[in-house]
Amino acid sequence: MVCCIRGATTVKENSRAEILENTKVMLYEIIRENNLNIEEIISILFTCTKDLTKVYPAVAAREIGIVDASLMCVQELYVEGSLEKCIRVSVTVEGNLKQKECKHIYLNEATRLRPDIVSKSKIEAVAIDGPAGSGKSTVAKLISSELGYVYVDTGAMYRTVGLYCLKNNVCLDRDEDIIESLDKIDIKLEFSKGFQKILLNGIDVTEDIRKPEVACVASRVASVEAVREKLVFMQREIAKKSKVVMDGRDIGTNVLKNARTKIYLDADVDERAKRRCNELSEKEISFDYNKIREEIILRDEQDKNRKVNPLSVAKDAVVIDTSGMSIEQVKTKILEIINSK
Ligand code: DC
Repeated sequence: MVCCIRGATTVKENSRAEILENTKVMLYEIIRENNLNIEEIISILFTCTKDLTKVYPAVAAREIGIVDASLMCVQELYVEGSLEKCIRVSVTVEGNLKQKECKHIYLNEATRLRPDIVSKSKIEAVAIDGPAGSGKSTVAKLISSELGYVYVDTGAMYRTVGLYCLKNNVCLDRDEDIIESLDKIDIKLEFSKGFQKILLNGIDVTEDIRKPEVACVASRVASVEAVREKLVFMQREIAKKSKVVMDGRDIGTNVLKNARTKIYLDADVDERAKRRCNELSEKEISFDYNKIREEIILRDEQDKNRKVNPLSVAKDAVVIDTSGMSIEQVKTKILEIINSK
């Protein structure tokens, strides 16, 4: 059986010693994690980004005893915004391993490249999930500024699709209509000083998406698989390029399965409703407490029971019940968890 194992790593400097060392670590890990005999490796293709010129990583393969396999090393074209000083590898193996069982290895900065296929490596990211009003966004902003990470509010992206549907009278009872509108929706996120600005077809909708009527529509459009596919792809692209604190409903269970830290925030429904009302009154948006409370219950129901990536606690997440806790206490607790990793 022939199969192909992928991997990538990065170096800090374009130096022969570091390229050899990091390539060897990556190859050893590929061999160990996939229980390979060196003889089973029939060929290896290495690619290096344009900023690496010092040595062929193939030298590293020869030095660890891969002598019979055919080795090829090529330089990549420059891709704007792509990871720097990166060595990628594709190892072809002939043996008993099945393609589906391959463990792909991404190390150092390259852990961000393929969060979907990486099995073991953790990426430097903080995933925060939880129901509406559990305090995710407030605390995620504080944590991201403390760590110097980019804060990504994924709920804002679903809200933006929801806002488009509301403004354009898209029939929310029909998945097909929501899916059809996706081609007309261009979402751009801009990040500066821990603040996320969101543009819908070039127009800043950062404030508009916060209106209470948008929340339930966001929850509805978020149950459509094609919507999730589009937005999850964007979210993973952001996490490839920067270290992130990302909050949402499926970050730990789906978007960044291999995030080093996963937190699930919860709180009782009355406390969550009160918090939402406080946020709205700070923004001078009018509200009715009972309506907000009902809306939160409805959203919990929709978000937890939808078929695709429902809100749930990731196996490796730490659950924090924030009822009765101050934001400062939640922040301290999360930072303790991050530092203990
Ligand atoms: O976090 P929020 O209240 O702004 O999110 C609005 C809606 O978007 C929420 O009810 C469900 C949906 N959502 C989602 O399905 N997955 C995410 N990762 C984030 C939000």
